[in-house]
Amino acid sequence: MLLCRLSGMFSVVLISASLYRVDAQLSKPCESPKQWEGNVYTVDTKTNSMRRARVVYDENAPRVRITEDISIGNQVDFYDVVYLHNVEYRLNLKTRQCNVTALTRPFRQFGVPQDANFIGKATIGIAGIPGENVVIENYNGQFRDGTKYFGDVTYPDCIPVSRGVYYESGLSLDRFYDINVGIADPMVFIPHKECAEKLSGS
Ligand SMILES: *[C@@H]1O[C@H](CO)[C@@H](O)[C@H](O)[C@H]1NC(C)=O
Repeated sequence: MLLCRLSGMFSVVLISASLYRVDAQLSKPCESPKQWEGNVYTVDTKTNSMRRARVVYDENAPRVRITEDISIGNQVDFYDVVYLHNVEYRLNLKTRQCNVTALTRPFRQFGVPQDANFIGKATIGIAGIPGENVVIENYNGQFRDGTKYFGDVTYPDCIPVSRGVYYESGLSLDRFYDINVGIADPMVFIPHKECAEKLSGS
């Protein structure tokens, strides 16, 4: 019976060791694509909200277009947001009201930040059966303002799978789907006319 318990403990240790197998090759961060389009699903424990979003992402500028619906309880709001050179142009699609806000925080990458730490490699799905798994790399780190993050990207192409960002009193967790590398239409980064009027009028 003691032997039985011991071997049970041993297999638990083995499982956790293989889940976070630290690979010497992974000490350097991989480089995620700088331009892509995709879908993002976000849960935010601070605002108790859920978000479904379409994202066009350009880390080079940086600039991001997010068409999102945000649900808090039964209420759903629809926004069309452009982040351009650290200014947020947020248009409420129901009211057509636009708020223009200069962001004080540094840009937060959806892909792996260059100074991220690598935690290890893991398999989602069944290891060893083609088409039934995806290999991911786990990373974590801090943005320049000290905000902590962690995430997963695919191996070896470094495509975002999920990302979590900690706030003072919560966690925002993004899951990424259906990513296509490249940007079909760079015109999507032009803020809506409601936002341009707002800028010149204030
Ligand atoms: C703009 O800001 C006001 C005041 O903070 C807020 O009530 C409104 O919901 C905001 N609108 C958008 C589109 O974010």
